[in-house]
Amino acid sequence: MSEQNPRLRAELAAVPAYTPGKPASADGPVAYKLSSNENPYPPLPGVLERVVAASGAFNRYPDMACTVLLNELADRFAVPVSHLATGTGSVGVAQQLLQATSGPGDEVIYAWRSFEAYPIITQISGATSVRVPLTSGDVHDLDAMADAITERTRLIFVCNPNNPTGTVVRRAELERFLDRVPGDALVVLDEAYREFVRDPEVPDGAQVYRDRPNVCVLRTFSKAYGLAGLRVGFAIAHEPVAAALRKTAVPFGVSQLAQDAAVASLRAEDELLGRVGSLVAERSRVVAALTDQGWTVPETHANFVWLRLGDRTSDFAAACERAGAVVRPFAGEGVRISIGETEGNDIFVRAAEAFRKEL
Ligand SMILES: Cc1ncc(COP(=O)(O)O)c(C=O)c1O
Repeated sequence: MSEQNPRLRAELAAVPAYTPGKPASADGPVAYKLSSNENPYPPLPGVLERVVAASGAFNRYPDMACTVLLNELADRFAVPVSHLATGTGSVGVAQQLLQATSGPGDEVIYAWRSFEAYPIITQISGATSVRVPLTSGDVHDLDAMADAITERTRLIFVCNPNNPTGTVVRRAELERFLDRVPGDALVVLDEAYREFVRDPEVPDGAQVYRDRPNVCVLRTFSKAYGLAGLRVGFAIAHEPVAAALRKTAVPFGVSQLAQDAAVASLRAEDELLGRVGSLVAERSRVVAALTDQGWTVPETHANFVWLRLGDRTSDFAAACERAGAVVRPFAGEGVRISIGETEGNDIFVRAAEAFRKEL
């Protein structure tokens, strides 16, 4: 046997690990998982039926072109099918975008802190991450991001609303930023939480992209549509970018179960968006309670809230867990708490109150 290990790409050594939200423990007091920004509602019966029906044929490959789903999305967004591309969750599509645009020597700009997959997929591509700190209010600093652009910049993520802070950039500042980005750099508007936005000043990427060939929008079925476990997301982009996404897709990556569930979810959109409305109401309730308790909560437009706890982060997360709610700590920075079932939110709010009293 050879003593040598296979030679792996040097970039992999520095790839940070993705930390998934901790599950709620099956035995013990913890009952609510508020750690992954998932939809707490179980699948709609109609959607579940479609998935069960599709599962009778999983000896076959799925429709590689996702024909029915793309046609539904084209109608839904009033865009040509050629402007759409699917992937294994929007994180899969984001990785395809990096494969399509960036490699060693190239630069990828994103705000920090933002979605933790950005540094991972950038590092895997071989490109260099350029992290631009959020403002003191935990918002994207678009001026600083524009200042960071060089001739090496190939891709810029704008996460709107931003994970994990929930903050947004508004129309005028985004347009001003986009006007400063050279046409050969791709701006990716990651709108995984778009359906939770209620502020009309927050731009809809599906409109913004129309007259900007270097803008691509990412959307997902994982959050508002409750299909996180099935892995389907999509991009809306002009033809060359969408075509590049089709080339970089893992063949047959989106299962037929996922495709059929996504189509059924689009057809049940009223009901699903009603659930989103309930989560938005819960969000207001949680934010109001935290504010009453004296916490500073950045204005959130997503299905989670962010508490910048610094070195008390781990203690706070542990206190929540003891009380019965698993949250997502980012060590030394803060805690992201997903909006979940009413009882789970109540448990979290009580834990936050108790923690605050002991400060
Ligand atoms: C900002 C953002 N983008 C993309 C994703 C990826 O979601 P998915 O791959 O499930 O579509 C997430 C998930 O947490 C996210 O927070």
